[in-house]
Amino acid sequence: MRRKLIAGNWKMNGNLAANAVLLTGIRSGIGEAHCDVAVCVPAPYLAQCRDALAGSPARWGAQDLSVHESGAFTGEVSAGMLLDFGSRYVIVGHSERRSYHGESDETVAAKAARAVSAGLIPIVCVGETLQQREQGQTESTVTRQLDTVLATLEPEQLTRIVVAYEPVWAIGTGKTATPEMAQQVHALLRMLLKERSVAAAEVVPVLYGGSMKPDNAAELLAMPDIDGGLIGGASLKATDFLAIIRAC
Ligand code: PGA
Repeated sequence: MRRKLIAGNWKMNGNLAANAVLLTGIRSGIGEAHCDVAVCVPAPYLAQCRDALAGSPARWGAQDLSVHESGAFTGEVSAGMLLDFGSRYVIVGHSERRSYHGESDETVAAKAARAVSAGLIPIVCVGETLQQREQGQTESTVTRQLDTVLATLEPEQLTRIVVAYEPVWAIGTGKTATPEMAQQVHALLRMLLKERSVAAAEVVPVLYGGSMKPDNAAELLAMPDIDGGLIGGASLKATDFLAIIRAC
């Protein structure tokens, strides 16, 4: 049985004062959430999340990690450091990291492997650009992106990941994939998981991300293979984030 997950991706937003309001809002409004809830925040705010959310059903995590364990890698943050602050999740392969920081499928796979080996749950992002969709390359793109990760992980690690389908053209644009469009890709991702591990296909949540909001969350989350959301803009306002959690 797959539990749904609603994860916020704050991206490079926030400050101590604004975060305090947002985290207090989430903590007080979350109630007995019937899905898993997490916020993925800039690394400097992990300690603040731990203090604000400890003992609540909400979990926290980061948006990237180093492929290396430790050492002379100036500016990098390791899996162990994220764990030191109680992180459960870490996003890997977000399209903004792939495009602005040149992360290849292989780098994303190495980061996912590092995360799982350390005991973090990587939220592995895949998704096609508008050009790839228009050229009929949606399926080949997400297949290549996910399969590289699945091939890198040890078979027994495959159940310890989350996948997020985020069409690049829907991120931060207000354009959302229709539930049917998203479901088609989610079913493909589920099949790719199943080819490697029947157990993983059963338990790994496949999230949708890209302009998910309170007013479109319920219809997306009603699709059989959409197991939650990775929420950018709408995760920065407690009322919107809580409304999506309730839609779950
Ligand atoms: P968005 O971002 O909800 O603002 O479109 C989603 C994401 O990039 O994870």
